Amino acid sequence: MRIAQMSDIHIGSRFVPDLMDAALEEINAFEPHLVAIPGDLTTKGYRDEFEEAKSYLNRLECENVVIVPGNHDGRNVGYYHFEDLFGKRASSLEISVPGGEAKVVALDSSEPDLDEGQVGRENYAWLDSQFRGWDRGPKILVIHHHLLDIPGTGRDRNILSDAGDILAILRELEVDMVLSGHRHVPYVYNVSNTLIIHCGTVSSTRNRGSCPLYNRIELDGDEIEVTLSYPGEGEEALASGSWRPLANIRFHPPRERYVRYALGDL
Ligand SMILES: [Fe+2]
Ligand SMILES: [Fe+2]
Repeated sequence: MRIAQMSDIHIGSRFVPDLMDAALEEINAFEPHLVAIPGDLTTKGYRDEFEEAKSYLNRLECENVVIVPGNHDGRNVGYYHFEDLFGKRASSLEISVPGGEAKVVALDSSEPDLDEGQVGRENYAWLDSQFRGWDRGPKILVIHHHLLDIPGTGRDRNILSDAGDILAILRELEVDMVLSGHRHVPYVYNVSNTLIIHCGTVSSTRNRGSCPLYNRIELDGDEIEVTLSYPGEGEEALASGSWRPLANIRFHPPRERYVRYALGDL
């Protein structure tokens, strides 16, 4: 299975068209089964920014493009324009991949006019229902905000505010992979057998210690490779190894001791 993870396009501020042009050309040549775009298409959530982002993304030849809003897209009621131009802010998709299928769930973690994000208790049951019982291939979550602090990004102010609850849910549902953006620095964690993969900003100079890039992810049997791709400038390995866990620490208390879904809380 091939995945292109391309985030934080940031039309409207420090956006570099040549980077986006190069990334789109390279991603089409990569022929991914999934293009995951975890947010921040825009800078201020204005409609013309979304329209410009859409005109670029229309050039993707992949039939499975999954997009969620980021905190910048939630500014100035940008979620209205997001819904008009890209559809629902949360989605669930089953896609054909070599050797089977994959389940891809996308969640909007943005809050209007805030940089902080959350999934929200009211969405836990829906998230659970999408992944529970799925046994036909990889389970992948696409979400903008980070579940864990990312190194090399300075002081952390807006980690997902319910990250602990979401990590517990992902652990119980044995979700394989989380694809996120937001911090503009690529990194990979393996937490309770969920790979948490961040990419940088693909097409803006809003970098921290990093530079513009996107991720190419390849799953082949038990092996995974995550490759940093610098648009027009080559590539570099980010992470590789066994896709399936080498060890699995069982955690025995039931999830409900820590996380209860909203229905039971009300
Ligand atoms: Fe961003
Ligand atoms: Fe962001």
